[in-house]
Amino acid sequence: MIWLVGCRGMLGKEFAAAFDKAGIAYTGTGSETDVTDKKAVISFVSGKNFTYIINCSAYTAVDKAESEENRAMLINCDGVFNLAMAAKQTDAVLIHFSTDYVFDGEASEPYKETDATNPVSAYGRTKLAGEKALIDIADRYFIFRISWLYGRFGGNFVSTMIRLMNERDSLGVVDDQKGSPTYTKCLAENIIRLMNSGSNKYGIYHCSDEGVISWYDFAAAIYRMGKEKGIIRKNVELRRITTDQYPTPAKRPAMSAFNKDKIKGLDGFKLNRWEDNLSDYFENYGEK
Ligand SMILES: NC(=O)c1ccc[n+]([C@@H]2O[C@H](COP(=O)([O-])OP(=O)(O)OC[C@H]3O[C@@H](n4cnc5c(N)ncnc54)[C@H](OP(=O)(O)O)[C@@H]3O)[C@@H](O)[C@H]2O)c1
Repeated sequence: MIWLVGCRGMLGKEFAAAFDKAGIAYTGTGSETDVTDKKAVISFVSGKNFTYIINCSAYTAVDKAESEENRAMLINCDGVFNLAMAAKQTDAVLIHFSTDYVFDGEASEPYKETDATNPVSAYGRTKLAGEKALIDIADRYFIFRISWLYGRFGGNFVSTMIRLMNERDSLGVVDDQKGSPTYTKCLAENIIRLMNSGSNKYGIYHCSDEGVISWYDFAAAIYRMGKEKGIIRKNVELRRITTDQYPTPAKRPAMSAFNKDKIKGLDGFKLNRWEDNLSDYFENYGEK
């Protein structure tokens, strides 16, 4: 049996859908089983026989975290610590997700798992603290650092672009932050193959779709594919802007692409080009 924590978030729903489709048994919980409540977490696993705990719960409001760092820390660090304790108690492998925002974005080469971290936002600090808490406690774990997550469930950059492109005549998109999208469907499929393999190559992995782009490049492809599919119905002028022209409370890394050599050796993992995954998103648009 699998415990899917945070089953109603963007990634959690993708796992739930993939498990339902594959006939994989799981128990899903949301914030009613509060990960920050140690007693509740430990008592939840008591007497149950989980092989994997997949943690899709998190505090993900990057800008809001600047003014709510304690709350974000509670969920992204203390909550992860509690799940690591629970995994140990039930002898489960813990699968957890972290972020490219643990890096400062000053590198000129894609980041390796062994590169020094230096978060420049409150969210990044809380996610890094969560990684460290997990590693201190758990023996059998996979941490996947992912970036620019999007998919059919929940609000994300792609769904926001589609909405704005159907409302506006002109749209400025940041062109001086480079990174890689991660498509939830591809990620969930990879992790199911990993679990099926029973791999014990535990550790931290960098994971995203293949290819390095700017937010502007991503928006331009969304516009092109959305128009082709009739999902974007307006003509929109897309403009390249700089980070300075789009101020946000949280600072974001300018270059957060990952070196993915390590994950390419992990059982079951197959990474697709970002364009192919975006095309799949549009092919299946509206399917829940
Ligand atoms: N979104 C991105 O661009 C991005 C980028 C890089 C990494 N990540 C990481 O990827 C993972 C999945 O992100 P996501 O975007 O799918 O997240 P999401 O849509 O924001 O969902 C997070 C879920 O966490 C649950 N949750 C929040 N506080 C909780 C608590 N105290 N106890 C139990 N559950 C709680 C919420 O449950 P309820 O719905 O029941 O309230 C929510 O459904 C996270 O670890 C995130 O840090 C995301």
